[in-house]
Amino acid sequence: MLKLINDAIMADTMLHYASLIVHKEHPVFCEFGVAYGGNLERISRIIPHGTLHGFDTFEGHPKEHYKDMSGVDTRQLNCMDRVYKIHGPPTTKECMNKYFNDNNINNVHLHKGLINDKSLNNIKEIDFALLDLDIVEPMRQVLKMVHPHISVGGFIALHDVGTFDSEDWYRFVCKPDEYVVSYPLKNALVVLEKVK
Ligand SMILES: C[S@@+](CC[C@H](N)C(=O)[O-])C[C@H]1O[C@@H](n2cnc3c(N)ncnc32)[C@H](O)[C@@H]1O
Repeated sequence: MLKLINDAIMADTMLHYASLIVHKEHPVFCEFGVAYGGNLERISRIIPHGTLHGFDTFEGHPKEHYKDMSGVDTRQLNCMDRVYKIHGPPTTKECMNKYFNDNNINNVHLHKGLINDKSLNNIKEIDFALLDLDIVEPMRQVLKMVHPHISVGGFIALHDVGTFDSEDWYRFVCKPDEYVVSYPLKNALVVLEKVK
């Protein structure tokens, strides 16, 4: 199986949210920050009738892009270095695609590169989005992009936001009553459920 870098409780919590979209005829899951692909593999097995999109550089954090940006915390930029020492370098898109092909997983689409304004151009509705980019700037950028695509009854999971300075940085998306906010793993995870 492909590796997961987050702990088992986090991984199982993602399976729980994926199980809440299983009833959909064609559920769509997007993961922003794929790393070794473990979440995509596990969730692809829960929604074999759905479509999964994984976005990553597949080369690790884009440090060059963020290093001079004001407000970017170097601890966030470097936080994967320890993981790469233990688990090896990031898995390339080609290796991950080969693994999915070899294991008859045909519903995962990998998108390589810096996530940008056009990343969601070909994706209409999203039922579950996991944002796991470690760095507050792209997390904010992706949240802004993603939330208009979320279906009613769908979810946005924001991982590791407890390490960000401001506790409420994600609230800019929440019009009154649009999302119900929960903290299933205390400050390690914020989940926004779109209720209307
Ligand atoms: C914490 S890891 C993702 C872990 C994965 N979700 C899991 O559960 O195993 C963060 C990933 O975000 C990617 N990343 C960070 N900023 C990015 C950006 N602006 N565009 C594309 N990928 C980015 C890094 O390459 C890294 O693989």
